[in-house]
Amino acid sequence: MTLQHYLQFSDLTAEEYAWLFRRAAIIKQKFKAYEKYHPLADRTLAMIFEKASTRTRVSFEAGMYQLGGSVVHLTTGDTQLGRAEPIEDSAKVISRMVDLVMIRTFGQDKIERFAKHSRVPVINGLTNEFHPCQILADLFTFLEHRGANAQGQPDPALLKGKTVAWVGDGNNMANTWLQAAELLGFKVHVSTPTGYEVDQAVAGIRSGDSYKVFKDPMDACRGADLVTTDVWTSMGYEAENEERRKVFANWCVDTEMMAAARPDALFMHCLPAHRGEEVEAEVIDGPQSVVWDEAENRMHVQKALMEYLLLGRVG
Ligand code: CP
Ligand code: NVA
Repeated sequence: MTLQHYLQFSDLTAEEYAWLFRRAAIIKQKFKAYEKYHPLADRTLAMIFEKASTRTRVSFEAGMYQLGGSVVHLTTGDTQLGRAEPIEDSAKVISRMVDLVMIRTFGQDKIERFAKHSRVPVINGLTNEFHPCQILADLFTFLEHRGANAQGQPDPALLKGKTVAWVGDGNNMANTWLQAAELLGFKVHVSTPTGYEVDQAVAGIRSGDSYKVFKDPMDACRGADLVTTDVWTSMGYEAENEERRKVFANWCVDTEMMAAARPDALFMHCLPAHRGEEVEAEVIDGPQSVVWDEAENRMHVQKALMEYLLLGRVG
């Protein structure tokens, strides 16, 4: 098999996503039925965390064990990565001992350098620029709720023509939504405060056709099929926290914004959330919110992703 990494959303094709969503649904069913499924027996995943995590750690670790494999958990503080061992050397060494690597780090350049020197597939578990595993889970969750085809399968073709409203920071999640929209044919309505806009070059998209910018977040939400947001201050930007709290005050997803969206619109948040900042409690804990499904689905889609990167099209 050729070595395939998952460093950004555009690393896979629309057709590969269709496959992954189908596999994720099957793998999820097996999990719910307590059916043993160990295609990755004797395989090892190294997880490298240079930033904090709850969901990413638990979903990859539990997911890998459920597939019959094992995991090694590494952080900057307890490895030589924190003592300036070059990323290239770390990649060469770690990838001789494990079958798969997941990294959460700062700059995208770091994960790209690691991948370049890795003998095994590398998965992006979040960088400053992208969070592809999260959008994979978000799209799967949307399809579960709104996009089953006649055979009851999650079908990304049904995303075409849909509108996602992004309210908040033009961050790693926003960039990844833009990549997904360009690849899968839906639209993103983006509203960010001035100075925190998305940047097409950073997002790595070819054109501006798949997104539209709105000054007022209410306008971004109008007619949307999905309203989504994220923390005002992402990991690594904590020094800007006070300033951001002031600038982002009007970018709080509230019931009025949800009312401007389609009546059947869903609400998503990758979590962790700050109620009263980027989202009102009434929205995140309300009937349109699917945040718990969204979090759980991280595990199911990543199991499908790990299966695909290591074994190709099985099943
Ligand atoms: N959504 C997400 O990636 O959560 P964690 O930071 O807890 O991993
Ligand atoms: N944008 C957030 C996502 C956390 C899962 C961050 O990078 O901190």
